Amino acid sequence: MKNTYRAAIVGLGRMGHLFEEDPLMRKPCSHAGAYSYLKDKINIVAACDIRKDRLDKFREKWQVKNLYLDYNEMLEKEKIDILSICTHAQQHKEITIKASKSGVKAIFCEKPISTSINDAEEMIKVCNKNNTLLVINHTRRFDNVWRKSKEVIDSGVIGNIKVINSYSTAGLLNGGIHLFDLLRFYNNDIETVFAKLKKDKSTDASGTGLLKFKNGAHAFVDIDYRDYVLFQINIVGSKGLLKCGGMIRGDKTFELFTSKPSTTQIGLLELQKENFQEVKGEMPLVNAINEIIISIETGKSIISAGEDGLKALEICMAFHESDRTGKEIKLPLDIKNNTVIPRETSFTKDGKFPPTYEKNNILPGF
Ligand SMILES: NC(=O)c1ccc[n+]([C@@H]2O[C@H](COP(=O)([O-])OP(=O)(O)OC[C@H]3O[C@@H](n4cnc5c(N)ncnc54)[C@H](O)[C@@H]3O)[C@@H](O)[C@H]2O)c1
Repeated sequence: MKNTYRAAIVGLGRMGHLFEEDPLMRKPCSHAGAYSYLKDKINIVAACDIRKDRLDKFREKWQVKNLYLDYNEMLEKEKIDILSICTHAQQHKEITIKASKSGVKAIFCEKPISTSINDAEEMIKVCNKNNTLLVINHTRRFDNVWRKSKEVIDSGVIGNIKVINSYSTAGLLNGGIHLFDLLRFYNNDIETVFAKLKKDKSTDASGTGLLKFKNGAHAFVDIDYRDYVLFQINIVGSKGLLKCGGMIRGDKTFELFTSKPSTTQIGLLELQKENFQEVKGEMPLVNAINEIIISIETGKSIISAGEDGLKALEICMAFHESDRTGKEIKLPLDIKNNTVIPRETSFTKDGKFPPTYEKNNILPGF
């Protein structure tokens, strides 16, 4: 069947489509790029941005005619099956609720889910009530390389997870939330958070924390503004070590070490490097859209649902709460109405963009 599904996008910036202009990124790497790649089963019928220049650029690139400056008008006039929300988090709640009430089948919303726990809960409640599939783009859950690392953990080859050391660049709601989500993806729910924020002029604080999982494992997390991108998770198990790192979109910086009889001292086991086979497959956004379609058609649960977005956001909020009180915070959080604002500038501390990005008018970040 051709073009069965009708997609629309709100927010025509980097995730909406501009990332496609970065010559270095593996494609497709934006919502529009992924829909277009899957054009046999899905069609972009409409798009919206509050900036007219963004609409003009989108029309030129994707030949979409139905473009809107107001998403309310788009929801009224268009019949949409899957709506991508690629605006900043401050708008996610309102757009999600209105889209769900308008009858879209699925909402594919960028991370972070929202800027408060109350808002995230409301989004989930409304979507459940209207039978709308709510999907949060914690991209690595849809990435074959990161999925492979989870398979390795689940296979038991590194034994039980004892401790995780992890690092991300930029603030809690930017790189940090990807890290929090992966910690849950690898090792289920987090019970407590003890953290200190690093305060600077960014609206989205960074911080260092110690997290305890329900199964007794611990994770050290360091999120900071740096002049370079660091995204690294080292998982120490009872039988081995798995190092997972790099950005999404095809990085192969994964290393597996398992314990073998020592070659230097009798009677000891030591870690030796194994081959971590290259992982092939579609790009994460393509996997995501294919899996959204499967969920719509079969009711199968999605790997990155609204609840996952909420739980990752809750860890960000717990960082703030722990810093405020000086205490270890137990999850789920009681305080749900605190609001955090994601940063809208570069991942570097001074907020400036590398010159190559300025030239291409695409801003780096997560
Ligand atoms: N999953 C990932 O790896 C990843 C990577 C980058 C960004 N993101 C997330 O994607 C979201 C968007 O980030 P970005 O970097 O693409 O931002 P961006 O600033 O490049 O684009 C956002 C666009 O939304 C538009 N917009 C704002 N309010 C609007 C409204 N009410 N209606 C319609 N359009 C509106 C803006 O004009 C802008 O064009 C953020 O939540 C961000 O955290 C995710």
